[in-house]
Formats: sequence, structure tokens, C-alpha cells
Amino acid sequence: MSMDDERGRNEERPGADQPVGDEELGDERLGDEELATDYDRFADEVGTRNEDDGAYEEPAPELGDLHRDYSIPGVSSAESNPYRWHTGKKRDHGGEDAIEIIDLVKQFGRARILNGLNLGLPNDQISMVLGPSGTGKSVLIKHIVGLLYPDSGDVLVHGESVPAMSDDELFEMRKKFGLLFQDGALFGSMNVFDNTAFPLRQHTDKSEDEVGEIVNRRLREVGLAEATDKMPNELSGGMRKRAGFARALVLDPAIVMFDEPDSGLDPVRTALLCELIREVHDENGGCYLVISHDLGTARRIADFLAVLWKGRIVESGPAEELFESENEFVSQFLNAQTEGPLAMD
Ligand SMILES: Nc1ncnc2c1ncn2[C@@H]1O[C@H](COP(=O)(O)OP(=O)(O)OP(=O)(O)O)[C@@H](O)[C@H]1O
Ligand SMILES: [Mg+2]
Repeated sequence: MSMDDERGRNEERPGADQPVGDEELGDERLGDEELATDYDRFADEVGTRNEDDGAYEEPAPELGDLHRDYSIPGVSSAESNPYRWHTGKKRDHGGEDAIEIIDLVKQFGRARILNGLNLGLPNDQISMVLGPSGTGKSVLIKHIVGLLYPDSGDVLVHGESVPAMSDDELFEMRKKFGLLFQDGALFGSMNVFDNTAFPLRQHTDKSEDEVGEIVNRRLREVGLAEATDKMPNELSGGMRKRAGFARALVLDPAIVMFDEPDSGLDPVRTALLCELIREVHDENGGCYLVISHDLGTARRIADFLAVLWKGRIVESGPAEELFESENEFVSQFLNAQTEGPLAMD
């Protein structure tokens, strides 16, 4: 195995392992702000340590054909057909895919988290990936932004293979992305304006006037026009998320990803944030991917839904069709019923 292969299998990609400290607001650790890219923080938030360096070389097995040298969370070794509910059905959304995930396999040690996942995320729609805790939703996002290499399979963003990109190409590609973190991940030492301006100052040569114009417009859009001088520790949880959202938008990203934007918000603030996401999407378009546990959020904002379980997509398609799905697992999960395949685990 070459050095490259080894790195590919066992390590995080650039941007994943920079020291960024903890998530406490008000922490002044970011003296070297060059290091504190959104990707560092994202990597930190979703957990990036890959302790086991056992490489895995095989391609994804056929549906139902389970190997015995790894385990899949949620699948007991005695189970003969763990994929009986996984039709993998891709209901047509009538548009183009901005992101395509093809036979994606990712294993940490013996735990195979993604086991031949196939999914297309439509351009110009809000998609949501739903699934039980620990099924690999955050791991999936990390493959899309190129923080993790697949063991096998491919991830295409606008038709280009992310794992095949050089580091330079990867950094270029990431400019297409806006990321919203669980806590907004603001820099504690900067006020709301400077936090929001950060990606523009880091990635563009725009003058301070232009930066100010963009930042003020985005902050108005998320309802923080009055809070530009506030420090993060003076904001409520909902305001922090809105500031994080404004910051995710300043580079006019074609793709915006939210990992649990609604966690820690009360129901009213969750509804308001959903409304904001919808409005901003209506205005700007693009491929949005929202990860959430909240079925209310799914009903409110999702155009397109995918249900992830046992390392594969059970079904995906237009939200209204998935909510009506006759698939027992999809129906159980999207209607939060206690009876169904999930209870049998
Ligand atoms: N870098 C890593 N090294 C080892 N194991 C990892 C790594 N990243 C994730 N995992 C494991 O992969 C599994 C899926 O994690 P992930 O965070 O993607 O789940 P999730 O679907 O986002 O869950 P939740 O809904 O709770 O956020 C977990 O068992 C986790 O421990
Ligand atoms: Mg997660």
C-alpha cells in the first residue's frame, strides 16, 4: 500500500485536524485565525478522531450479502436480511442532482458505518437526510465536503469527484459550500459583524466597503441588523444560529449544509429558523442539505427526503411522497410510530 493509500484510508483530509479548541464561546484560543476555518470547526464539531487504522479494501457487497469481518451499527450478526426494507428506491424529483453519492463505503475499525450508500441530492431544493442516531449522517456530510475519504465508492459535487481532488482543488471546491454548525460556531472574540465578514476577508479580495455591504445585507436578511456589534456571548441560542447562517451565506454558496440547525432551540425558535431557511432558499436557490431529527422541521422545509438506516438509504424522494410511503420503515420513522421494523432491533 502506498503512502497515499494509507493516508486515504486512515486519516482525515486537510482542514480536519487543525487544533481549534473547544466550543466554548468567549474562548480566545483563536489568536491564529488563519487556522480557524469553518472546516476545522466543522470537523471538530462532528468528531474526527479515527483511532483505528485497520484498512478495508473490499467493495460494497451486494444487498443482503453481509460479510462477517465487520459489523454495522444496528444490525445483529444473526440477522439474515438486514436490508429487506431497503428498496433503495429513488423517486424522481424532476431536476438535476447537485451531489451524487455512489456506493459509498466507510468503516472505522470494524464498525462499518456506511455500507454502499447511494443518494442524489437535487439542485435548487432543500433536502433532508433523516435517520436514527449514530447512523452516519454527520459522517455522510463529511464525505461531501471532503473531510473524510471513502473506503470505496465516490462522491460527486457538480459532477466532480471529491475524493479524487488534489488538496488545492478541494480548497477551491469548498468555496461553493456554506456550512452551518450546531451552535453557530462563532468566534468568541469577534462581534457579529466580524464573524460574518470572516469568510469574505479570508477568501476574497473584496474591499471593506464591499464586505460591509454584503455582511449588512445578510445580517438584515436573518434579522440581526441591530446586533452587529454584539459579541457571541451576548446572543441567545437562536440568534447565534442566525448569525452562523448569515456567515454561511456571505460567499453566495451553491450548496449549504446544516448539521442539526434546530438542536437546542425551543419549538417556536425552531419554527422561525425553518421559516428563515425557506425564505433564504426561495431567494437564493441552491442545494441545501439539512440534517435533523425533527420531523416538524422535515414537514416544514424539506422538498426532498432521504432516510438513512444501517449504512444505506432506505428510500429517497420528494418529501410529500416519502411521508406517504408504504415502506414499513420509512412510514414508521417519518410518523414516529413505536411499532415497526426499528423496534425489532
Ligand atoms: N472519525 C471517526 N472515527 C471513528 N468512529 C467514528 C468517527 N466518526 C464517526 N464515527 C462513528 O460513526 C458512527 C456514526 O456517527 P455520526 O456522527 O455520523 O452519526 P449521526 O447519524 O450523525 O448521529 P446523530 O444523529 O447522533 O448526530 C458513530 O458510531 C460514530 O461513533
Ligand atoms: Mg450527527
